[in-house]
Amino acid sequence: MAKEIPIPELISVPTHVGVIMDGNGRWAKKRGLPRKFGHREGVKTFRAITRRAKQLGIKYITFYAFSTENWKRPRDEVDAIMALFEKNLDAVKDFIDEEIRVRFIGDRTALSDTLRAKMLDTEESSKHFTDTTMILAINYGGRDEICHAVKKLAYAVKDGTIQPDDITTDMITERLYTEDIPPVDYIIRPSGELRLSNFMIWQAAYAEYYFTNILWPDFTVSDFDKAIADFGERSRRFGGV
Ligand code: FPP
Repeated sequence: MAKEIPIPELISVPTHVGVIMDGNGRWAKKRGLPRKFGHREGVKTFRAITRRAKQLGIKYITFYAFSTENWKRPRDEVDAIMALFEKNLDAVKDFIDEEIRVRFIGDRTALSDTLRAKMLDTEESSKHFTDTTMILAINYGGRDEICHAVKKLAYAVKDGTIQPDDITTDMITERLYTEDIPPVDYIIRPSGELRLSNFMIWQAAYAEYYFTNILWPDFTVSDFDKAIADFGERSRRFGGV
């Protein structure tokens, strides 16, 4: 059994952390392995970081697992990632033993019936947990999400329930996949890329960012602790002074 790393003293922890799990492909390539081995290794990091988030008292943690743009990857890589979801959703059920609530965001219509059924089942069985919610973004795109929300409002205008002038930013927020989940405070992106890649673009309006060159499969619990400690040093003004 791996040695438990002591919980660090933290000034403050973000309420909602977003993680862009990047660098799996490069991790595999460096070892002369097919990219899917990198994703498999990435799942181990994902599981360890989810547990750590609960230990650190983080209320919400969202992982970007598959974007609306990721379908453009070679067929065998997409199939391998989908297979990993199906296989690991059973394992994600371990989180239920650890009292972690599981939610999914993204457009489910393109996913297999088996995967969708597992997603619903996992959400249902964990919905009563209140400490930490782990949100997995699958077939998720920020623009796609905003487009869905706007369509809902357009239908409400069409049927006369609301008037165009009544539309507020809160009404858009409430119609996103994240609905009742608070905005993201802190986005961690490993692997050296310095971009958001269509991840929670609405919810990240006032987010802080943490970038590191470490590839996702190599990202450890201590690296996560370090990233969270860094958040405590930030001064957030939300547009004020
Ligand atoms: C980005 O690395 C990673 C992905 C697009 C897939 C991430 C998916 C997983 C870790 C599997 C998740 C499964 C569960 C159950 C959470 P990349 O392939 O873009 O890496 P590269 O930039 O080095 O090519």
